[in-house]
Amino acid sequence: MDALCAALIAGIPLTGEIPADVTTVLARHGCAATGKHSMAVAAEAQRLAVHFGGNAHQAETAGWLHDISAIVPAAQRIEYTQQWGIAVFPEEAAAPMLLHQRQSAVLAAELFGVSDAAVLSAIGCHTTLKASPTTLDKIVFLADKVAWDGVAARHLIRTRSCGRSRCRWMRRAGATSTISGCAALLCSPSIRGSWRLITSFLITWEGE
Ligand SMILES: [Fe+2]
Ligand SMILES: [Fe+2]
Repeated sequence: MDALCAALIAGIPLTGEIPADVTTVLARHGCAATGKHSMAVAAEAQRLAVHFGGNAHQAETAGWLHDISAIVPAAQRIEYTQQWGIAVFPEEAAAPMLLHQRQSAVLAAELFGVSDAAVLSAIGCHTTLKASPTTLDKIVFLADKVAWDGVAARHLIRTRSCGRSRCRWMRRAGATSTISGCAALLCSPSIRGSWRLITSFLITWEGE
């Protein structure tokens, strides 16, 4: 196992069961809220996979692990990424939090033994999506947004990485179920199309 990865779980007893271990590891790093979010994303991803004909087990696994890189020190995201031999894009250098999606894929493989390329792909693009996404990529991407809770929204406000009006909308009761019911989001062929659809909902709700 990579030394940096090993250090992140040093002294933490693991069971081999992903849900339990993700919850434990995140809690031991002071990220219990991310553990609850991960559980919600796993459940939502599983639900979407069943509904849209995806692989429910892959979706649930990716959901549990998609934010496991919350355990990487925030101030060292670029350093960790470079030490793992991963090139940092200019956009990621400007907003290092973007790196967390690809870092989660590294940790899913290194710490949890995930070798399924489809699962690692979905984890690795769960924030931004990517060109020519698979159905699983889109399911996990959307599950993350649908299951976005108040804690995550408040964090984004604090870090100013998201517009305030968007976060206000995300905290509204009913917003989640509105997006959840929109099958069209999963049919969009691109990140640009997905965000255009999501933005149309944001505008609708902000205008009410
Ligand atoms: Fe994330
Ligand atoms: Fe997330």
